[in-house]
Amino acid sequence: MKIISLLASPHGLKGNTAGLLRDVHEGAEPEGARIETVVLKGGTVLPCLGCDACHKKGFCVQKDEFEPIKKKIAEADGLVLASPNYILNVSAQLKAFMDRCCGVVHCMQFWDKYGVSVVTSGGDGGESVAGYMDYFLITVGAVPAGSVWASVSEMTGTGFKDDVREKARALGKRLVEAWRAGEMPPGVEKRRNDFLERMRALMAWRGEEWPYEHRYWKENRGL
Ligand SMILES: Cc1cc2nc3c(=O)[nH]c(=O)nc-3n(C[C@H](O)[C@H](O)[C@H](O)COP(=O)(O)O)c2cc1C
Repeated sequence: MKIISLLASPHGLKGNTAGLLRDVHEGAEPEGARIETVVLKGGTVLPCLGCDACHKKGFCVQKDEFEPIKKKIAEADGLVLASPNYILNVSAQLKAFMDRCCGVVHCMQFWDKYGVSVVTSGGDGGESVAGYMDYFLITVGAVPAGSVWASVSEMTGTGFKDDVREKARALGKRLVEAWRAGEMPPGVEKRRNDFLERMRALMAWRGEEWPYEHRYWKENRGL
């Protein structure tokens, strides 16, 4: 299983989120996962311009790392989203990436990839941030297989406490197992199908303004 991990903290590989993400990787790698970590920081992925070019052309016109990262994910089997809790939501770095996926969302182009979410917080709120990230996975067509969140109050001098680290490792293992079994966690199929029908209705309504997406739907989803 090939996995792309998006680590969206300005602290990069030295931050708390990176620590928890490493434990997720530690759980996934012995199960056969090959993992590439992409650090989203600074201007790696700029905010969306709202120009609609992605809907018309199938790619973003901004010259940054977004399109190469999108290609890596398209070629992978799994996607790990890792973010600190920034004011009760994902970091701006991850939100910029999510916004830039607007065309991917319309076509649910990461269909059947398996994903998990990883969040660290100074206090609480991690669960709802992870819930938002899981919903994003559904909107791109992926299957969310679980999440882990932790607070800095659960850290010792050397990193997160053992029980937190164990949860993160179990999540990594579960990601590979769920993908291998083609498992559909409870409730995911209905949410994904409901979202698919919303996108189908959108394409029927406005698709002719967006030639790439209209064609994608006709060729792949039987519009
Ligand atoms: C701009 C900013 C906003 C934050 N907002 C919250 C918040 O709303 N709730 C919370 O519990 N922690 C919040 N924190 C704390 C971080 O989520 C926490 O320190 C996290 O572990 C940092 O991860 P990192 O080291 O990977 O960057 C915030 C930190 C920053 C810098």
